[in-house]
Amino acid sequence: MICPSPFKFHFEVAQMSLRAANLIAAGANSLSGTPLSFRSPSMSRVSASADALTTVPLATKGASFIRKHLQTLAPYTPIEPFEILSARLGRHPKDIVKLDANENPYGPPPEVLEALGSMEFPNIYPDPESRRLRAALAEDTGIGAEHILVGCGADELIDLIMRCTLDPGDKILDCPPTFTMYAFDAAVNGASVIKVPRLPGFALDVPSIVDTVRQQNPKIVFLTSPNNPDGCLVSDDELKTILDLPVLVVLDEAYVEFAREPSRINWVTNYENLIVLRTFSKRAGLAGLRVGYGAFPLSLIEYLWRAKQPYNVSVAAEVAACAALTNPKYLEDVKNALVEERERMFVKLKEFSFLEPYPSHANFILCSVTGNKTARELKAALAKDGVMVRHYEKAELQNYIRISVGKPEQTDAVLAALAKLQC
Ligand SMILES: Cc1ncc(COP(=O)(O)O)c(C=O)c1O
Repeated sequence: MICPSPFKFHFEVAQMSLRAANLIAAGANSLSGTPLSFRSPSMSRVSASADALTTVPLATKGASFIRKHLQTLAPYTPIEPFEILSARLGRHPKDIVKLDANENPYGPPPEVLEALGSMEFPNIYPDPESRRLRAALAEDTGIGAEHILVGCGADELIDLIMRCTLDPGDKILDCPPTFTMYAFDAAVNGASVIKVPRLPGFALDVPSIVDTVRQQNPKIVFLTSPNNPDGCLVSDDELKTILDLPVLVVLDEAYVEFAREPSRINWVTNYENLIVLRTFSKRAGLAGLRVGYGAFPLSLIEYLWRAKQPYNVSVAAEVAACAALTNPKYLEDVKNALVEERERMFVKLKEFSFLEPYPSHANFILCSVTGNKTARELKAALAKDGVMVRHYEKAELQNYIRISVGKPEQTDAVLAALAKLQC
């Protein structure tokens, strides 16, 4: 006869109590219509224990276990998922002109779907060192594979760099308006952010960056070239001046392929304090598969290898990125089409009296909204026509919209929707 083990018995009792508690909690939840996770910490909730169902203040539960600096963290506001957006707008995804997240509307080369369809070992964990992809990237970029580390998007690498370099209380410096993940990840890693705002027209305020680094001693300066959301470049001279400071410089080149200037990825062999980040999300149309990469000085990269999650790049992501690199002509053609479309859209946007577009070196155009509608109202009006753009109403970017560059027919749809708002 097989006896149930005492552990198994206790486990099952606990599970039964937990299920009961969940049912009660779900009932309470559906009555109030408030998801539990959105309740304020002062509310109480039903808790399960093996011997009783009791009500305990939430303050002694989940929130009390969270690290102090995370208790006040503002959540990152991501773009709405495509299917949810489609349901909300009551439009088929094909009828949505999605120009709000700088995605590549052409998608990846056809080789990518073929390779994903014939993936050999999805049941086996991926190569922790992404060797095939790093070898292909070495060919593509001209920098040795030993300098390259691949991540689950450039986003993962921003966080990994901070996890490896920042002690609680350390500072980073960024230059708003810019990509908000730098400030978000700094907050998650217990660091504070020194902001050196850009000059009118969005150029970097280099003298102010130099002074601030000298006086406040941040550990990392984040630079973005082209910058998101305006598309400005960092010049060689600006970069060299900042690299001469005693600070680690992370140069984010997520959009560099759309600029006429070359990448600085090879500079990491000359500067011990430079990291360059790039991604497959924009150039290769693989935002959904999450593959980014960084080039690092050898003295730094070994620590990132030690700290990264072993299987951070999935088999599918590596297969897709390798396949994308086998068709450089497709990547080049798509880039050229988007750059050409950017120039056409820029000229057309200038014709609207309520928009002031800024010249961009990336796959998006930032516009100041100057008419009687606010940027938020303009975004909402465009959404009614199925055209999605990003709007900004922050201190450093008050009343702006950012429109990603799409296919010519998508530009036409934006222009038609804007024309309706002209009068
Ligand atoms: C400047 C910048 N860096 C990095 C990223 C994130 O890239 P990835 O999709 O590889 O995480 C973005 C995404 O929009 C970006 O704008």
